[in-house]
Amino acid sequence: MKTARYHALVAGASGVVGRRLAEVLAGDPDWEVIGLSRRAPASACSFKSIAVDLTDAADCRQKLGALADTTHIFYAARYDHNSSGPEPIDLNTHMLRHLVEAVAPVAANLQHIHMVQGSKYYGSTLPAYKTPALESDPRVAHNANFYYAQEDYLIAQQQTGSRWTWSASRPHAICDHSTGFARALGMVIAVYANICKARGEPLHFPGTASNYRALYQCTEASLLARAIQWMSTDPRCANQSFNITNGDYLRWENLWPLFADYFGMKLGEVKTVRLGQTMTTPEMAATWENISKKYQLKTTTYDKLVVWPYGDFVFGPTFDIMSSTIKARQFGFQECMDTGRMFIDLFDYYRREKVIP
Ligand SMILES: NC(=O)c1ccc[n+]([C@@H]2O[C@H](COP(=O)([O-])OP(=O)(O)OC[C@H]3O[C@@H](n4cnc5c(N)ncnc54)[C@H](OP(=O)(O)O)[C@@H]3O)[C@@H](O)[C@H]2O)c1
Repeated sequence: MKTARYHALVAGASGVVGRRLAEVLAGDPDWEVIGLSRRAPASACSFKSIAVDLTDAADCRQKLGALADTTHIFYAARYDHNSSGPEPIDLNTHMLRHLVEAVAPVAANLQHIHMVQGSKYYGSTLPAYKTPALESDPRVAHNANFYYAQEDYLIAQQQTGSRWTWSASRPHAICDHSTGFARALGMVIAVYANICKARGEPLHFPGTASNYRALYQCTEASLLARAIQWMSTDPRCANQSFNITNGDYLRWENLWPLFADYFGMKLGEVKTVRLGQTMTTPEMAATWENISKKYQLKTTTYDKLVVWPYGDFVFGPTFDIMSSTIKARQFGFQECMDTGRMFIDLFDYYRREKVIP
């Protein structure tokens, strides 16, 4: 049996990014993977896992302090959040620190630590940020996100004579074909469309008029995982950050007609609503229950199906959300994906899995 060349710890392995990353690495015979999270990752996972609370330094030392083989740490954890408010900076930074301080001192062959960031790094949640965002852009408002504090911590650690290097990926709106995640853009669109359809409505766009026309971008989770694998093993990427998206830009006004067509609906108009309010009423839950019964779907209860405020987060901004992916291409990562096709493939998958009609 072949011995693995790399030993990875993937923090956040029960989450959207971490689970796909752990799966992709575990599918490569060069990698042995241990996923870290409080909950066990989904049962069908192809990697080992350890249940650890990263907010608890002692728990980290006790459960991770003997993982001396570790060559790579991938940090894709984030403290609990529901898309409707800022994420805690201190707590998220402590989580990364507890992990690094438990493992780095014992892992003599630690080569690389990767952080998953995002385009909030550029202030994508602040109005009028500079686009297309470049990795070399200056930081924006001090407390706009938790990435700066994590990055400052990691760089400071690395500069204390560590042998390992670091990298960071900056994706946006990650879309994955797993069906167990409620914070999923494909599910927001598919469930919203099916409820509108069942209520005899056309497919209205629930966001703002400016958002309908603005440029937007997504990152497919497997593509992100392969990009992270690349930048964590290619020496040219040492101590570098890279924007990773599908490589194209979309306008919802161009995709909405395709989605209406896909779900067999008439195209509606821009009808701005707060999905976090309008889609969480008992009436909507009852509509979904009827759909679910009629089509014998395998969906969980309605309140666990979709994080509706995430839809408001995506369809709210009135400006372009754009990152340049030129740097990743110039450094050697060439993968790209048609985002419209990606959504249709996601919907097909949901249908095959019987989570939507
Ligand atoms: N999702 C996106 O669209 C998106 C877009 C751009 C950037 N990003 C970035 O990608 C990174 C990962 O995000 P994600 O969306 O994949 O997150 P997620 O789905 O919310 O997953 C978070 C992960 O962190 C783990 N975690 C949380 N608290 C923990 C704790 N105390 N101890 C151990 N594990 C803990 C969770 O596991 P347990 O709950 O089981 O502990 C889970 O595995 C973040 O930096 C995020 O900002 C995400």
